[in-house]
Amino acid sequence: MIALGCDHGGFELKQEIKKHLDQQNIEYIDYGCDSQEAVDYPIYAKKVARAIQNGECEKGILICGTGIGISITANKFKGIRAALCTDCFSAEATRLHNDANVLAMGGRVVGAGLALKIVDTFLNTPFSNDERHIRRISQIEED
Ligand code: RB5
Repeated sequence: MIALGCDHGGFELKQEIKKHLDQQNIEYIDYGCDSQEAVDYPIYAKKVARAIQNGECEKGILICGTGIGISITANKFKGIRAALCTDCFSAEATRLHNDANVLAMGGRVVGAGLALKIVDTFLNTPFSNDERHIRRISQIEED
């Protein structure tokens, strides 16, 4: 199950992503927002982060205008590794190396065509399970 969240800056792109996931029969829960009316991105980053923490969803996709504020917020949550991606190379690498569980994008940064390729890359790339990456990921959680 994929958790989706956005603010007004990411609403349009989230709609495109939902259509794309529907076409592939990929299940998701949309945690809002529900329109282009201005809202505060931390609210939606927190909903998605908590859905992953409590096991309701396995991965998340967060979109705000830049992807920055929404990823900064998500990364405050223990166990959340949100990667802000603007290209497919990074989306693949962050799954292989960081086992990122949240993809963040900027609705005012990437066009829908590229964003959907980034989504596919992120969702279809497994974690490498390499010892060095496991070690580094566990170091992220240490003080
Ligand atoms: C909203 O105008 C904008 O600040 C927000 O979408 C995001 O880009 C913040 O990081």
